[in-house]
Amino acid sequence: MSRRSETRSNFTPQSGHNAYVFAVRSNLLISACAVGSLMAAASIAQNTATVAVFGQCEVCHSVNGINGTGPTLQGVVGRQSGTVPGFRYSRAMKSAGITWDDKSLDRYLADPQELVPGNVMPFSGIVDSAQRAALIAYLKTI
Ligand code: HEC
Repeated sequence: MSRRSETRSNFTPQSGHNAYVFAVRSNLLISACAVGSLMAAASIAQNTATVAVFGQCEVCHSVNGINGTGPTLQGVVGRQSGTVPGFRYSRAMKSAGITWDDKSLDRYLADPQELVPGNVMPFSGIVDSAQRAALIAYLKTI
């Protein structure tokens, strides 16, 4: 064997190892991308569902601070019930004394009259608890 071919045979396993490392790395990269795009697809699906549910509210409620038939829902999570300036609430809502959080919003949205008897929101409620949860998650973002 010449010195030259020895060098070559030393080189081969080395480059093979690098190729292997590269293959493993790029597989990981591809899996990471696949997981990432699945998650993105899931969150787009979730957002689409939430927007569809919120479509039932937005005829009366804005998310931009302007009152309509209902008070704006901007910043509603963490707010005291019946306190948006400039909105004429019913006596029932003004005196309800509720802090809007996950629990109270879930009860109110399931059955508005059950939680605040006599409030004047003309909406009968959302039966599906998963839809309510998605909606409340959305309300936290506005
Ligand atoms: C047809 C109009 C209408 C629809 C639809 C409607 N609301 Fe209302 N909402 C109102 C009115 C009016 C009030 C004020 C009730 C009162 O003063 O008794 C209100 C009050 C509220 C409050 C209390 C706000 C506060 O400042 O204390 C929340 C929370 C709320 N609505 C959420 C929703 C959500 C979420 C939806 C959609 C699932 C929805 N509403 C659908 C009209 C509506």
